[in-house]
Amino acid sequence: MLRHKKILLGVCGSIAAYKAAILVRQLVKAEAEVQVILTASASDFITPLTLATLSKRPVLSSFVQDERGVWANHVELGLWADAMVVAPASANSIAKFANGFCDNLLSATYLSARCPVFVAPAMDLDMYQHPSVQANFAKLRSYGNQIIEAGYGELASGLIGQGRLAEPEEIVQVLENYFAGSGKNV
Ligand SMILES: Cc1cc2nc3c(=O)[nH]c(=O)nc-3n(C[C@H](O)[C@H](O)[C@H](O)COP(=O)(O)O)c2cc1C
Repeated sequence: MLRHKKILLGVCGSIAAYKAAILVRQLVKAEAEVQVILTASASDFITPLTLATLSKRPVLSSFVQDERGVWANHVELGLWADAMVVAPASANSIAKFANGFCDNLLSATYLSARCPVFVAPAMDLDMYQHPSVQANFAKLRSYGNQIIEAGYGELASGLIGQGRLAEPEEIVQVLENYFAGSGKNV
């Protein structure tokens, strides 16, 4: 189902960012083309080298790539993708998406994406339950984005509750279900 599908994977600054490596691995195994966009904060949690190696493509992080003025075109990226997934999605990036902020490559690409967007949040349980975060989820849903709900369990903080990033298998399944139902299977 994911064969030759172009997937933009946004990775945010969360302790769950290591799971993005497993997600990339599974998407590539399913023969999807995966372009990773890391936020600056995400690269504190997982290296671009890991994700570039697994996705077989250079990872993008900033608008401007080097001192020669080579830049990553967020508009083209947004048009290239068949689906955009943000996993893990931080409270910060979710707030940006919900409110039209555009101060990094990931949020600019989000605003440019015409494809369906899937947002898989990960955060501590009190952050997850905060009315502000819940209101931002509702906004994203109102834009037609799909929230892949965080799971329950033990969190990195040691607290137990909802906030664990959905497992990579579940995220892949959501994408497969989307493409199976969209008629975009060729
Ligand atoms: C150790 C550590 C773990 C963090 N985990 C999360 C998390 O799981 N979810 C979250 O929303 N923010 C988390 N944060 C806070 C984000 O990293 C911070 O809000 C950052 O600005 C997010 O930037 P980004 O949205 O550009 O990736 C964590 C911070 C630290 C230091």
